[in-house]
Amino acid sequence: MSNAVITMRNISKIFETEALQTHALNGVDLTINQGDYVSISGPSGSGKSTLLSLLGLLDFPTSGDYFIEGLDVTKLSLDEAAEIRNVKIGFVFQSFNLIDDLTVFDNVALPMRYYDKKPTANQIKQRVNECLAMVGITPRVSHYPNQLSGGQQQRIAIARALIAKPAILLVDEPTGNLDSKSADQVMDVLGELNHQGTTICMVTHDPRYADMAKTKLCLLDGTFLKLPSNKEIA
Ligand SMILES: Nc1ncnc2c1ncn2[C@@H]1O[C@H](COP(=O)(O)OP(=O)(O)O)[C@@H](O)[C@H]1O
Ligand SMILES: [Mg+2]
Repeated sequence: MSNAVITMRNISKIFETEALQTHALNGVDLTINQGDYVSISGPSGSGKSTLLSLLGLLDFPTSGDYFIEGLDVTKLSLDEAAEIRNVKIGFVFQSFNLIDDLTVFDNVALPMRYYDKKPTANQIKQRVNECLAMVGITPRVSHYPNQLSGGQQQRIAIARALIAKPAILLVDEPTGNLDSKSADQVMDVLGELNHQGTTICMVTHDPRYADMAKTKLCLLDGTFLKLPSNKEIA
């Protein structure tokens, strides 16, 4: 049996406005297996965010095939897409997207409050603490986001993304708002999570961080560049 989490075949995305057609993605093929750590880099406008929103079912391709864990997800209703997104996808954004009025604990617990089958208070507490431990934040559960550093906030955002045990973590420029020391810590957390088995697909501008991934992909004008493998360079 294949252990592909993500399979995209010949995916294209065209944005149409009255005056303009933009081919944001042109025939993209992408396979991400369980346990992979993929980085996607490329210049501004090359299609990185478009690809990440298709991967996360926030938008749909114009053509092509897309499967998540073998399930065809190209022809879903918006409700079905939302349901699969909640269960299968963890998002981490450049701007953290934490809720300022909620404590660290409640931010991380938030997705669990929307589960079909309501978890008990104990189940929530256990899972939240587990996820905070995975990102090294445990003693700070009653703090509010603005009492913490940017790096700590991003690690909390990662804990929240992990809460539903997603099939894949989609990470968009995780270090874009961080100083280099905090950025390094966040990248260490992502590396460790992958080491423990979490499948990750990350968009980043920073070549140093792109290199930390096991598979490095580069987009240009909506198409993956064929990069020489390390062996060919050496
Ligand atoms: N909602 C949209 N409507 C029209 N054009 C868009 C939209 N989103 C992205 N684009 C265009 O698609 C191309 C790829 O954009 P994007 O995926 O945001 O690139 P990147 O994230 O690599 O900077 C760009 O030319 C951009 O202007
Ligand atoms: Mg972008």
